[in-house]
Amino acid sequence: MKNIAILCSGGDVSGMNPALKHFVEYSLQKNLKPFFIYDGFEGLIDDDIKEASYCDVAGIITRGGTKIGSARSTRFMQKEFREIAKQNLDKHSIDMLIVLGGDGSFRGLDIFYKEHGVKFCGIPSTIDNDINGTDYSLGVDTALNIIKTSIDAIRDTASSFKRAFVIETMGRDCGYLALVSHLTSGSELCLIPEIDYDLKSYEENFKTQIENGRRYFIAIVSEGIKQDSQEIADWFENKIGIESRVSILGHIQRGGNPSIYDRLMAYKFITHAIDGLLQGKKESVVCYTKSDFTYKSINEVANIPNKLDSQLLSLIK
Ligand code: F6P
Repeated sequence: MKNIAILCSGGDVSGMNPALKHFVEYSLQKNLKPFFIYDGFEGLIDDDIKEASYCDVAGIITRGGTKIGSARSTRFMQKEFREIAKQNLDKHSIDMLIVLGGDGSFRGLDIFYKEHGVKFCGIPSTIDNDINGTDYSLGVDTALNIIKTSIDAIRDTASSFKRAFVIETMGRDCGYLALVSHLTSGSELCLIPEIDYDLKSYEENFKTQIENGRRYFIAIVSEGIKQDSQEIADWFENKIGIESRVSILGHIQRGGNPSIYDRLMAYKFITHAIDGLLQGKKESVVCYTKSDFTYKSINEVANIPNKLDSQLLSLIK
């Protein structure tokens, strides 16, 4: 029986727990012994590695976050700690690793593979959906649904009070969450880092809309834009002439009950990751593009800046 381990790295996403559940089930089905590495690469360095069983994953499919914890490890960037990590894997006879994380984690793994030959398969997992080479990262659908519910709720109060609401989404330098939320909620304004903007160009139109009876505005802005959300709210008050409020959705976007789509994607990603390792893939990332799964190299995924889908972008224009 061969040993295989899984860890979560970077920002947690809803979908990690369903992935852990299927990891245990599918490993056992494939006659592999599954191990959990707790708290990301930190646990790998500190030997927080335990064999996993069905009992560990009972009842977790409905829960956001990750049962085995996650971390952003700076120690794993240092050679001496990667050597300790390798010794710990050897102690448990583990030579196959699955990592749920983002491109930074995959880059670290690639160095680890080159130094120590530990085979790995990455599963893109970030609500930001900013990983090059995959159209979808685990957790995005749940985050979008939470944003949708929040915007719908804010719209109720915005319209009651004749106010403008500036709703800030996460995403780091990527405007995907904001853009999709804008398109699917019918908001009046969307500002994302990928598109330069000039607020002045909206002023005449927005003022006319108020004159014609508009009671509220919803603006969805991504956290990576050049201005603070409060500055956008001030602009609504001072230039458009409507009372405004800011609502920063924050970490609420990262938690919550995983959507059906994320549960299913978690199962599919894990199946492909384990199958890939068993077929001899040594350093790959399972990507989902054009409605299909493929294995890509680290260079195709981690070293090229991600671009927003041009079709989506054309919809905003
Ligand atoms: O990468 C995921 C993400 O949620 C980003 O959207 C956000 O900028 C960041 O992580 C927040 O990080 P932290 O949880 O460390 O505050």
